[in-house]
Amino acid sequence: MKKEWWHNKIAYQIYPKSFYDSNGDGIGDLQGIIAKLDYLKELGADILWLSPIYVSPLADQGYDIADYYNIDPRFGTMEDMDQLLAEARRRDMYILMDLVVNHCSDEHEWFRKACEDPDGRYGKFFYIETVKPGEKLPCNWRSYFGGPVWDKLPGHEDKYYLHVFHKKQPDLNWENPDLREEVYRMINWWLDRGLAGFRIDAIINIKKVLPFRDYPADRDDGLVSVTRMLHDQEGVGDFLGEMRDRTFKPHDAFTVGEVFNEKPEDIPDFIGPDGYFSSMYDFAATVFGQSQLGWHLSEDISPDDYRDCVFATQERVGRIGFISNIIENHDEPRGVSRYIPDGDRFTASKKLLAAEYFLLRGLPWIYQGQELGMENIPFSSIEEVDDIASLDAYAVSLEAGASPKEALLAVSKFSRDNARTPFQWSAEANAGFTTGTPWLRVNPNYLSQGINLEAERDDPDSLYHFYRKLIALRKDPAFEDALVYGDCIPYLADQSGVMSYLRKGDARTILVMGNFDADARTLPLPEGTRIREVLLSNFDCGKEQLTAASQGAAADRPAEITLQGYQVVVLLL
Ligand code: GLC
Ligand code: CA
Repeated sequence: MKKEWWHNKIAYQIYPKSFYDSNGDGIGDLQGIIAKLDYLKELGADILWLSPIYVSPLADQGYDIADYYNIDPRFGTMEDMDQLLAEARRRDMYILMDLVVNHCSDEHEWFRKACEDPDGRYGKFFYIETVKPGEKLPCNWRSYFGGPVWDKLPGHEDKYYLHVFHKKQPDLNWENPDLREEVYRMINWWLDRGLAGFRIDAIINIKKVLPFRDYPADRDDGLVSVTRMLHDQEGVGDFLGEMRDRTFKPHDAFTVGEVFNEKPEDIPDFIGPDGYFSSMYDFAATVFGQSQLGWHLSEDISPDDYRDCVFATQERVGRIGFISNIIENHDEPRGVSRYIPDGDRFTASKKLLAAEYFLLRGLPWIYQGQELGMENIPFSSIEEVDDIASLDAYAVSLEAGASPKEALLAVSKFSRDNARTPFQWSAEANAGFTTGTPWLRVNPNYLSQGINLEAERDDPDSLYHFYRKLIALRKDPAFEDALVYGDCIPYLADQSGVMSYLRKGDARTILVMGNFDADARTLPLPEGTRIREVLLSNFDCGKEQLTAASQGAAADRPAEITLQGYQVVVLLL
């Protein structure tokens, strides 16, 4: 496989609004990120993805862009952005912005002009259809945030525009070459400014099944999820390939796609050599158990389910390319809250989960606060929820017959706000995030459980320090052939409560082995192997544990190792 500069790097997602507020207005900003670059460097992060900071009404927290060429004043100025790029460069760090081009904001100049003249140049940047009073909408798709994908074009009684997300996020018409040119011009403008690349938002939606048509309804509202249409979609690759050739490739940019439900046979096109993107996220565990009928019907994910999802992706991707591994992002609950069962969530199990996902084959990503073990925030009322997706999900659950209590419980589990609460810097007021009033509640556990950076920095056994060790291990050139380029081979995958795999390089083999149960258990090492070195564990590996392991080998039977409850070991074999 051709080596790329980013293969041995560590990526980190910043959600600017909640990262660090430099001026006391309660909203995180670019100067706040600049102030914390040394922190990120010290942690070991190299590639930083910033969720959107462009001019936006923030109807969907910046994923509704009104001006692609300017920074929203709440986040700072273009000078701040240039300063961030320069400061990152000085530290050998790389900045990615969020590329949101499936849609823009209804406050973007293009959309305003489209409303003025739906048949003119800008009308053709969108999907606008004539619907006479009494006629039905062009199709019955349901937007991701609820309700039909069609809304009345402001100023026109008989015209409707398409939005697969919120009504303030009109979809851009990628069938129109003029629109595509505008998008490529913008991408190149940013790359010329010194960006390393982009995280590419919701990109699979840019190709619609045309002409618009109905599908059988999947709920009582008579509508059907947009994802149904995506099953039948053909030709998105033509757009993606053109975008790559016109923008990313000439700049040698790094890109990571937000791609859901890709077909296995498409993986080479997406992330193989000369793929549309450098990488894309593994969402197999993210979407596990999701019900289309309401969050209250979604299933929990057990450690075994988690392992099976992850291993299936590893097998599908193999050596084709580099998948991006995550346990959370700004659209999901906190990974430790989702993947560690209630009652089992503490520092040891958080370290176990950390090691398990981080050392998989692919690019490891950390979402802000994950390195501290930040958890979901308890909600006592729907009034406390800001996120539009969660508000819709709450209404859907109620309509489907859930009680307000059940609906709120589901929101608490799955809300995007869980990941959006301010970063917990210290034990000071508002966790040191702002001197003003934070735009979203701070999780009280920054005090009650001491989950904050200051406390964890002082504690050598903290999750934060464990992440630093994991990062150092993955960056150690001695283990690159195994931990960066080695195959990932599941081991003992049929044993409940165990998640274990080999990373097998040309020169070295590393075994990652974890016990998701509270009780200790003894497991065999792969035949013919013995432990050369314990590279990392979340427990002290006592002499006894290791002697027992090597004795087995001496006695001519498979060596064994006893793992404590929630123990993970990373072993050089
Ligand atoms: C992506 C973003 C999400 C946003 C949506 C619409 O899924 O990650 O936050 O709401 O796209 O842009
Ligand atoms: Ca601010």
